[in-house]
Amino acid sequence: MPAVVIVGAQWGDEGKGKATDLLGSAVQYVVKFNGGNNAGHTVVIEGRDGTREKYALHLLPSGILSPNVVPVIGNGVVIDLEVLFAELDGLQERGVDTSRLLVSASAHIIPSYNRTLDKVTERFLGKRKIGTTGRGIGPTYADKMNRIGIRVQDLFDEKILYQKVEAALAFKNQVLVKIYNTRAADVDEVVTELRSYADRLAPMVTDTSLELERALDEDKVVLLEAGQATLLDVDHGTYPFVTSSSATAGGACTGSGIPPTRISRVIGILKAYTTRVGEGPFPTELFDDDGETLRKVGGEYGTTTGRPRRCGWLDTVVGRYATRINGVTDFVVTKLDILTGFEKLPVCVAYDVEGVRHDEMPVNQSDFHHAKPIYEYLDGWGEDISGCRTFEDLPENAQRYILRVEELIGARVSAIGVGPGRHEIIARHSLVD
Ligand code: GDP
Ligand code: IMO
Ligand code: MG
Repeated sequence: MPAVVIVGAQWGDEGKGKATDLLGSAVQYVVKFNGGNNAGHTVVIEGRDGTREKYALHLLPSGILSPNVVPVIGNGVVIDLEVLFAELDGLQERGVDTSRLLVSASAHIIPSYNRTLDKVTERFLGKRKIGTTGRGIGPTYADKMNRIGIRVQDLFDEKILYQKVEAALAFKNQVLVKIYNTRAADVDEVVTELRSYADRLAPMVTDTSLELERALDEDKVVLLEAGQATLLDVDHGTYPFVTSSSATAGGACTGSGIPPTRISRVIGILKAYTTRVGEGPFPTELFDDDGETLRKVGGEYGTTTGRPRRCGWLDTVVGRYATRINGVTDFVVTKLDILTGFEKLPVCVAYDVEGVRHDEMPVNQSDFHHAKPIYEYLDGWGEDISGCRTFEDLPENAQRYILRVEELIGARVSAIGVGPGRHEIIARHSLVD
């Protein structure tokens, strides 16, 4: 049985968590393959009595909320151990069974000195800052590439752990003290802190790549869930205003150890409008009342840092780019309900860069910074759509919006979100078969 990938098609917060949760009953494994606790996924589950339970997940795969799923933290993830156990404890207190969680022995650990470095680097950059989440993500991936990272497997051998932390700090303390004028990290303190998690972590640690290979051989369905999104990908995003991991479909292979030949579907999650947190270019960004309306009605405040998200109209040049880079086979368009009430819905179809029309993402980053959206204006609708469960239930103009977007982004829209709840979704085509 094949593996299925879920990726964000814009700048994050498209509703990947909800989409993963939605597929929970149809899959046996959910793998987080990139990023760390910079992600924030809100999943809303309706009880039988109509009550709504809200879960905010950062480090754990969203599949952890589905009773029959094995959640996996893959080798491509960076783990803050304090956050991992706080999140597990929080879920256990709410009655969620977290005992099936598996963690790759090759995933990297975020040591406390990298959280410090993330924050002081941003301060140092001043107005050139990236607007990171301050969770130590960038410095930890940098250590991985520099070959001075600390991996999960290192925790279980005190001597090795000591040597690795010592080697990393020999270099990093110079930076902390001499460049940033902050306190040096102490090798013993770091080792003691990391070792304090080892016993609790040990039973979860395994060769997750091998486990997933065997699961696929047994016809199980494996869902690979991206954190962040296409335009935040370190290679394909709006560099340098990106995260430090591979958030696109290619990253699903390197970050999990599943080969490309096993992947049969790539599901792109596309919000019906656009949001972005942190710095960086955003051609369709709104600074007027419409932007404020999208932020308020859409509840666009970060799950991780609480920052207000920048809001704008849908950009189908970005959508088309996401289709190409990820090989998207199916889209889930989320938050269509938030567009209810606008008379006209501008959809960006191309850019004007100093008088030249660009139908595709400009290859040059400076051109993207200067891109002015060229809009097509679609008619809006006024009816509440949150109760719609089939495509035909939607008002005609909402149907037209989806059909036009489908045409512009170049892949079919297989599901449409009309509310935050698990059941507030319109299914057009099956996502796993
Ligand atoms: P993720 O990071 O991609 O998992 O997305 P986030 O959880 O950060 O942000 C998406 C937000 O939109 C969450 O609060 C979801 O509960 C909510 N959401 C997801 N799909 C829909 C939808 O179709 N309609 C509405 N109104 N909210 C949605
Ligand atoms: P989910 O998975 C939105 C952004 C940060 C910043 C940049 C780099 O919820 O979609 P980092 O801390 O990763 O080094 O910050 O990336 N960013 C996100 N924006 N959603 C996310 O995750 C994000 N994860 C990182 O705001 O601009
Ligand atoms: Mg999010």
